[in-house]
Amino acid sequence: MIRKCLFPVAGYGTRFLPATKAMPKEMLPIVNKPLVQYGVEEAAAAGLNRIGFITGRGKRSIADHFDISYELEREIAGSGKEELLTSIRKLIDENEFAFKRQNHMKGLGHAILSGRYLMGDEPFAVVLADDLCVVDEGEEGVLAQMVKLYKQFRCSIVAIQEVPEDEVHKYGVIAGEYMKDGLYRVTDMVEKPAKEDAPSNLAIIGRYILTPDIFELIENTKPGKNGEVQITDALLKQAQDGCVLAYKFKGRRFDCGSIDGFVEATNYVYNNVFKKD
Ligand code: UTP
Repeated sequence: MIRKCLFPVAGYGTRFLPATKAMPKEMLPIVNKPLVQYGVEEAAAAGLNRIGFITGRGKRSIADHFDISYELEREIAGSGKEELLTSIRKLIDENEFAFKRQNHMKGLGHAILSGRYLMGDEPFAVVLADDLCVVDEGEEGVLAQMVKLYKQFRCSIVAIQEVPEDEVHKYGVIAGEYMKDGLYRVTDMVEKPAKEDAPSNLAIIGRYILTPDIFELIENTKPGKNGEVQITDALLKQAQDGCVLAYKFKGRRFDCGSIDGFVEATNYVYNNVFKKD
């Protein structure tokens, strides 16, 4: 049974300055919905309705977004605008939200470790909300695809996609033995390798399913690339000791942590989702 999902949202979002000076990157809207809401919708659709956020200073608007806005709702009650809040009200009604602060931004691995007591001793998903994943109408979301695989294999799973060789330095990159249907058994993982050192062009994107033994592995992981505690290093240990799978998901992913990806996602959602609704 997997029912929890962790959202590390404590990063500084420096690539979006000055927009992110006083506002979390995850609250930037793609058309009319903040990035983080797309992520929570994907988790809820996968049956994960206990949502944990790893936040930081200056991230309060995320907690406000997943709470009722009494004055506003009263103000627009009975007007045509009420329906604009339907999607967020549904999430608030159907999911549980918990928040914990990461006091020092020591990297994604450290952010996940900060969620130890929110996630408890059970498998959980991790979503990096600045990676927006979309699928064709009627298809299962990326997390739902991964949850299905977890139920079959019961081990940690990372989502991967092929990236151009000159972009591997931005990602954790895996080497693996191909199993079937886009699934690999991970044999190696390198965080942000130079092109020459990359074991493949299969890059990890912001969707993970992790088994709870990952916490102890992170605890024993020394700071790696850029002095940050890297989840990739802990996952490599897990792969060496047992099993980690990498899954080439069905769907499309936009790197909304970068300006180009953000603009691409905005155009895509405007033309393919917003205008059609
Ligand atoms: P990124 O490196 O993409 O996000 O981390 P960032 O640091 O906020 O962005 P830039 O590079 O400065 O523009 C990936 C995810 O991990 C979270 C971030 O919030 C983001 O969702 N993160 C990263 C944490 O929660 N804590 C950290 O210490 C580091």
